[in-house]
Amino acid sequence: MGFYQGISGYKPDAQASASILARTRSRVGLVLVATQQFHQNLARKPMATHFRQLNPTERVLMGPGPSYVPQRVLHALAAPTLGHLDPEYLAIMDDTRQMLRQVFQTNNEMTMAMSGTGSAGMEACVCNLIEPGDEMIVCVNGVFGGRMKDVAQRYGANVHAIESAWGTAIAPEQVEATLKANPRTKAIGIVHAETSTGEHQPLEEISEIVHRYGALLIVDAVTSLGGIDIPVDRLRIDACYSGTQKCLSCPPGLAPVTFSASAMEALDKRKTKVTSWYLDVSMIRNYWGSDRVYHHTAPINMTYALRESLMMVLEEGLQQRIARHLKHHRMLRAGLEAMGLNFIPQHSLATLNAVRVPEGVDDAVVRKRLLTEYNIEIGAGLGPFKGKAWRIGLMGASSSVANVTLILSALETILRDLNYAVEPGAALSAATHPEAAVYT
Ligand SMILES: Cc1ncc(COP(=O)(O)O)c(C=O)c1O
Repeated sequence: MGFYQGISGYKPDAQASASILARTRSRVGLVLVATQQFHQNLARKPMATHFRQLNPTERVLMGPGPSYVPQRVLHALAAPTLGHLDPEYLAIMDDTRQMLRQVFQTNNEMTMAMSGTGSAGMEACVCNLIEPGDEMIVCVNGVFGGRMKDVAQRYGANVHAIESAWGTAIAPEQVEATLKANPRTKAIGIVHAETSTGEHQPLEEISEIVHRYGALLIVDAVTSLGGIDIPVDRLRIDACYSGTQKCLSCPPGLAPVTFSASAMEALDKRKTKVTSWYLDVSMIRNYWGSDRVYHHTAPINMTYALRESLMMVLEEGLQQRIARHLKHHRMLRAGLEAMGLNFIPQHSLATLNAVRVPEGVDDAVVRKRLLTEYNIEIGAGLGPFKGKAWRIGLMGASSSVANVTLILSALETILRDLNYAVEPGAALSAATHPEAAVYT
């Protein structure tokens, strides 16, 4: 069939047809040559010439997370990717669960790592236990209590917030009064380690009250798991979540969670489906359990990294690791206070040190100099503490004598440059004094 014969009513003469054909052929030829040249150019000169091979700076990570990730964990991350149903990978998942149980200090069957960061852990605990219309109490004394309240409201809970000033703990009496006023409360959420203020929340008395009123206890242990004691079974915590990038010294990306038998019973008794498909533990348990039913493709290499970091926790010894965090916090605290800096929280976390920026000192200038001159990252204040606080993390592998002395000497130098009166050497001498580690 001639080139134009398919077009109705068009009948070119033979000469015209030959000329059209010749022109078309030459145009097609030109296009082919141009395409060939384009591909040859691509092969010779990659398009993305302005990108360079990835080479991130190795910072001294002393902020509110992530913390330093040891080479051993990074190597695990780089191991060959297995299929998510490969028997070898399933064994790695089993190891991870077992080690997580030890670190959470629990026998809970339903202990695993949710895909996602700490916030995914928070959502998972809330959305699996709360149905639209349920009553929930959320304790708010910082950013992360506020986030839990927001999450609970988004999943349809009727939330009763217990507020306490930022940097102070939630009092057991407040919890009891709120439970008394709202006897249909299904769950109460509280942050163990409030990273925005550095406040360490005692849980023992609160747990006793919550269970006396027949509610479930949900605890945020993002900045405590692996650095501060959080014995899930002894404290009768029903749902606890954390993140990998803090005291476990693993990159961000997984959220370890554990659910008690009572929490699982509440999940099984739901009248409605879990509102989030992705975080629905009633389905995810069939993948982590013996059925191995596909739910979503697991973040395989992150599981390797978590397994390795948990092994490092257990090799060190959980209690020894907790003691290390406390010792370095006390040294740092002695040094910072010797410089005249004041701690914000009533009861400071060992993993996160929140201090007030001294009057007349520009918070951002100091943090920028720490980063550019000393390669140290620390955190800024959040919410009402914006511009008024420094948050210095000593988490996981970042909790070391070397980091304590480094940050104290760097801060002292910068503050003296900015005409803030610091007695030279006072901070280091206080931090390294034999009494420092037993500071109360
Ligand atoms: C106490 C607390 N809860 C929840 C989160 C949220 O975790 P992520 O940022 O990993 O989602 C954080 C993060 O810093 C936190 O410190």
